[in-house]
Amino acid sequence: MRALKTQVAIIGAGPAGLMLSHLLHLAGIRSVVLDRRSREQIETTIRAGVLEQNTVDLMVETGVGERLKCQGFNHHGFEFRFGGEGRRIDLYNLTGGRSVTVYPQHEVLKDLIAARLAAGGEIVFEAADAQILDIGQAPRVRFMAPDGALCELAADFIAGCDGSYGPSREAMPAGEREDYQRIYPFGWFGILAEAPPSSDELIYARHDRGFALISTRSPGVQRMYFQCDPAENPDDWSEDRIWAELQARVSGNGFRLKEGRIFQKGVVPMRSYVRQPMQSGRLFIAGDAAHTVPPTGAKGLNLAVADVFVLSRALERFYTAGTADGLEAYSATALRRIWRAQHFSWWMTSMLHRFADASEFDRRRQVAELDMVTSSPAAARTIAENYVGLPLH
Ligand code: FAD
Ligand code: DHB
Repeated sequence: MRALKTQVAIIGAGPAGLMLSHLLHLAGIRSVVLDRRSREQIETTIRAGVLEQNTVDLMVETGVGERLKCQGFNHHGFEFRFGGEGRRIDLYNLTGGRSVTVYPQHEVLKDLIAARLAAGGEIVFEAADAQILDIGQAPRVRFMAPDGALCELAADFIAGCDGSYGPSREAMPAGEREDYQRIYPFGWFGILAEAPPSSDELIYARHDRGFALISTRSPGVQRMYFQCDPAENPDDWSEDRIWAELQARVSGNGFRLKEGRIFQKGVVPMRSYVRQPMQSGRLFIAGDAAHTVPPTGAKGLNLAVADVFVLSRALERFYTAGTADGLEAYSATALRRIWRAQHFSWWMTSMLHRFADASEFDRRRQVAELDMVTSSPAAARTIAENYVGLPLH
């Protein structure tokens, strides 16, 4: 048995775990990050794309924003498309100068991994069978290192940043936890295509055939999604069929998407989920380990970053001032923002998707709601404030 020791043991090298390790390092606190995946897998998995202003500011302020500043696309607005026409939400003017940036999640992860390794940080990739042994007086995580050695990592605290299916959530005693969730009866079919952008800004479209989202990755690569059955098999969808479906859902006013070769496709399920509290003993959970949002509000990655911002501040206070009040308040502080984002993500989802059991009344009410949020400045501001994200401080 190889015995290791650190101050904070972090399970998961996603946005939550890596950002936490980076922020702790800047505060002079040691951590070890474990992930069961390889560095290559982590750096190539395609997921989120939209960063809130807060996430961008935090990356820039903490020295991991150089590539983001050059390669990210700053967006001052987005479009709701319904009834055959587009209506713009002017994020910038409605929020007093705030905006979002399109920069893929795996690029954020590359930047964080590079920064941690350059600073001598320890990330154990391909750490198998991670098991939380104690979340009380002697927190410990056991795992198998890639060379086959059995390791035991002792720490003051454990941060569970291991996503929706990791061991942290399960390590919390059954009697002390509550789960809240909603499963949606649809998923998103996502594609990456070699094509020029069809629009300068993102398009969130509502159509009687279902929702569609037109996003981007670079001048030559576009990211698009359309609502589908969660059990849909991507292999049943030819390129022609995918383009016909997307074109139908954004049609109107002569608008056409620019088509190109589709080189990646997949289906993601949709749900809303919250586990609370986000602490048990010396175990703190953050990011997708504690919550899931449907992707319609683009909140998942940003919430993960906001959680660990709060957690890093609380740990810093513990180590520098010797007080645990920040740690005791962590769950309640993080949950307030999480429930706000849960509401927003559910709202966006329910306004834009086709529900199989919806009546004609429901469909007309949905269009009336979209009409309101795109014509009332007060309602548009509510959308814009939530989309760019509430300030972290
Ligand atoms: P994860 O990214 O899931 O990281 C968890 C890590 O823990 C992983 O690296 C995993 O390998 C590791 N792990 C798991 N189990 C173990 C174990 N047993 N031992 C060791 N390691 C383990 N969010 C947005 O903000 N904006 C968007 O535009 C957006 N779009 C999305 C589009 C899609 C298609 C999807 C799928 C998600 C999208 N999201 C979006 C959500 C976002 O990707 C997640 O919310 C985000 O990845 C959460 O980060 P995390 O660090 O909490 O968890
Ligand atoms: C992307 C994903 C989202 O969930 C979203 O709301 C906007 C953009 C994207 O992958 O680009």
